[in-house]
Amino acid sequence: MKNVTVSAVEEAFTLECLDIAPDKSISHRCAMFSLLSDKPSKIKNFLLGEDTLASLSIAEQLGARVQREGGNVQIIPPSKLTEPSNILDCGNAGTGMRLYAGLLSGIEGSFILTGDKYLRSRPMNRVGIPLRNIGAKIDGRENGNLAPLAIRGGDLKSFKYASPIDSAQIKSALILAALQADETSLYKEELLSRDHTERMLSGMGATVALQSDGWIKIVPLEKPLNPLNITVPADPSSGFFFAVAAAIIPSASTVIKNVTLNPTRIEAYKILEKMGTNISYIEKENIYEPIGDIEISYNGTLSATTVESNIAWLIDELPALSIAMSVANGTSLVKNAKELRVKESDRISTVLTGLNACGIETIEHEDGYEIIGGEIKSATVNSHGDHRIAMSFAIAGLLSEMKIEDTECIDTSFPNFFDILTQITHIKD
Ligand code: S3P
Repeated sequence: MKNVTVSAVEEAFTLECLDIAPDKSISHRCAMFSLLSDKPSKIKNFLLGEDTLASLSIAEQLGARVQREGGNVQIIPPSKLTEPSNILDCGNAGTGMRLYAGLLSGIEGSFILTGDKYLRSRPMNRVGIPLRNIGAKIDGRENGNLAPLAIRGGDLKSFKYASPIDSAQIKSALILAALQADETSLYKEELLSRDHTERMLSGMGATVALQSDGWIKIVPLEKPLNPLNITVPADPSSGFFFAVAAAIIPSASTVIKNVTLNPTRIEAYKILEKMGTNISYIEKENIYEPIGDIEISYNGTLSATTVESNIAWLIDELPALSIAMSVANGTSLVKNAKELRVKESDRISTVLTGLNACGIETIEHEDGYEIIGGEIKSATVNSHGDHRIAMSFAIAGLLSEMKIEDTECIDTSFPNFFDILTQITHIKD
């Protein structure tokens, strides 16, 4: 187990982040969606994190040839996906497992999806049940809810499904299945979750269209899609750790360069802005997604806030946002966020345990929490194997020395996190 101690910053910083990790959601999708074409896909700036490399390696096990030079990846799809001779390991990635479950449900053959001990304890019936309802054969421990998942791919029926959870993973799994179904399908969610799947598949020539009545229409593929030709933008969820750093350190500022400005991904920045931070968004291009820079600068003590809507748009950033809430004036409230309980860790519990260790008072609710703003004190915080918990408390360490236990998990999404953090402060192993 690797532990790291982050020292409090000694002076204000100006940080230009050119190398924030490439977007994890988009990188996973690049690996998978390239399999739906009959021509090579060219991907620049693919995330070399453990999770997304696991998705790439699964694409290879399914018959793709992958040529990679650093983050430049060419994926040459097979003429027909092949039944792999071994199990498919998704690592720590819920996105990998759930999206591949949707894709493989419609492919002839037998597939076993597994992952690390954390992923093997996360709920899979949220995709398993709607997929089984359209004919997928998926089994696993605890009535098909827990991986390893055994999938016997075959014919799928079209569907009309209103999801009880706003989740891009469920939506994407069902879209990938719908592309292989017998007829046109319809999918709906209450709040539009991150829409990279719709944007990328439409860009490749599929009909995956959000209609004015809120239903997404998915037409089965009649021919292979066009290949992807994409430069993956920086990940706003990874950039957000350094946005919080600038928001809590007097006179500090950060620029996150070439990041996706997709509205379903930058809600946490909007909340940080509402709490009093100076933030501006500079759109530079629009290829599949709006892409540009986000500038963040300290603007005085933050004010407490309530976060209760558009939760799917900031679910991954809530741990880091909680660090900002801990030093805000007043009591902040997070509600309608019970999805936090089924992320890489139970993030309601792991965030509050960490904050309490730092001397911050909190109140736990089933679907969220309250944080009473105060002063972050030096502490030792365990990540519980959750990358976002580890990085959030590393940022808290900028205020007061923090020992973070079990930091290897950071490699799943942001392998160069500490390289950037050392530009601001001292880090000891
Ligand atoms: C993701 C969707 C989100 C997010 C996860 C990545 C994706 O999960 O938390 O980190 O790439 O589709 P849910 O869709 O389950 O909320």
